[in-house]
Amino acid sequence: MTTNQGVPVTDNQNSLTVGERGPMMLHDVQFIEKMAHFDRERIPERVVHAKGAGAHGYFQVYRSMERYTKARFLQDPSTRTPVFVRFSTVTGGRGSADTVRDPRGFAVKFYTEDGNYDLVGNNLPVFFIRDAVKFPDMVHAFKGAPDSNIPSASSAHNRFWDFISLTPESTHMITWLFSDRGTPKSYRMMEGFGVNTYVWVNAGGTAVYVKYHWKPKLGVQNLDRHEATRFSGVDPDYLTRDLRETIASGEEVEYELNVQLMNINEELKQDFDPLDATKTWPEDKFPLIPVGKMMLNRNPANFFAEVEQAAFCPASLVPGIEFSADKLLQGRTFSYADTQRYRLGVNYLQIHVNRPLVPVDNNQRDGAMQFSSFVGSVNYEPNSLASGMPKEALGGTQYIHRVEGEVTRRKISLTNDFKQAGAKYRSLSKINQEHLADNLIADLMHIDKPIKKRVIENLTKADSQLGKLLAEGLEGLTITKKPTRHQR
Ligand code: HEM
Repeated sequence: MTTNQGVPVTDNQNSLTVGERGPMMLHDVQFIEKMAHFDRERIPERVVHAKGAGAHGYFQVYRSMERYTKARFLQDPSTRTPVFVRFSTVTGGRGSADTVRDPRGFAVKFYTEDGNYDLVGNNLPVFFIRDAVKFPDMVHAFKGAPDSNIPSASSAHNRFWDFISLTPESTHMITWLFSDRGTPKSYRMMEGFGVNTYVWVNAGGTAVYVKYHWKPKLGVQNLDRHEATRFSGVDPDYLTRDLRETIASGEEVEYELNVQLMNINEELKQDFDPLDATKTWPEDKFPLIPVGKMMLNRNPANFFAEVEQAAFCPASLVPGIEFSADKLLQGRTFSYADTQRYRLGVNYLQIHVNRPLVPVDNNQRDGAMQFSSFVGSVNYEPNSLASGMPKEALGGTQYIHRVEGEVTRRKISLTNDFKQAGAKYRSLSKINQEHLADNLIADLMHIDKPIKKRVIENLTKADSQLGKLLAEGLEGLTITKKPTRHQR
């Protein structure tokens, strides 16, 4: 055993004291180093998606996608691209239960030959909001109340439903979140969705809109509300344990990647805005195209190093994949790397799990916890003193995005907030419709009447039968402002 300076530690049981009974000596550097390090063991938890589980594996295409994208990892069926995946809940803190009602994160880092590509998705295909500027308010409403620290997911339901009821575009997300998909049975049995719209560009410079779907080999399986509640008590780490034990037993966990593609010129011909993250694209018009498979087969050896320090970002794209104008996506492209520079430090991409497998070469230097030791006198470009190196790579984007318009703060005009929510409800089996209504009632019974009224109005606009079921289900219930018992 040594100190961090490599000096032998000969006694790790007794601190340095005056006599055997103390007091302690300030020059017990061995104690100070050990305790000071312990005092700094926690880093800030993710501002959302704090509780998560990770796994390593690989991704492999079934056939080349060259017709649509030049992304190199999507070309050759014999290439296995290493991946790291992190599944997560959204609202709870780092030590919270896995089986609460919440979207689940489904974040994939592809270590490609053109650098890292992150597909940072969720297990539900739509989102609560369509403009990133609302995200901090949304998360504030869901997380701990500023006075009591009780989150909406526990019993401060008023705050969640207050925000939701005043945000009609969230109605579609609610029909997914309060179905049993809000409580998946296993990370191995849930779908993943990119949610936002990206652009694929092929070698000829032709672009197409793309939405991503992961399909679990085992099919989708969920817990019902009562099972989920029970697991929160008896095994709060149920989903984490399930993933880890499965992989440890030697079983591989498989998902299929599918995409929906839309020609850019079809964009304005829909009855919804295809770049609106509160909408899905109908699969009969934009069929799922299988792309490849992902196999997860290795557990992290060190949770902190590989899972807690993992940094995914929807802005981490590779050539052949570009951003659409989706306002939610645009806001996300700033937020992730920004929080990671705070959460992990400016050199967070040097941490092993985040480092590309390909060499990194530029003139960014120094900063806290810099591990590379650069040599030479040239740290600028253009230069002649280092033969112009590192020099710009060849290629670059060939697709020309043309945008014009007035600079404004305005809602999109084609909001169509309720149609897909109603269609989603009507597409559910009878039992799933009952579960959705039942899950909603169990939550809504705790909220104040005016908020409840607004929620029911929105859901009635989606589907009158659903609205009626809720109104009937909630009728006659005594609504207390501060419920002491709740049934989630
Ligand atoms: C404007 C909207 C959004 C903003 C501003 C936002 C912001 C964030 C932030 C700041 C984090 C923490 C990152 C970290 O500390 O490493 C995060 C995590 C995450 N977000 Fe979002 N988010 C948004 C919407 C979404 C959407 C639509 C999805 C799904 C498609 C999503 C999926 C995730 C996932 C999976 C993680 C966890 C990544 C991990 O496992 O480390 N987010 N988000």
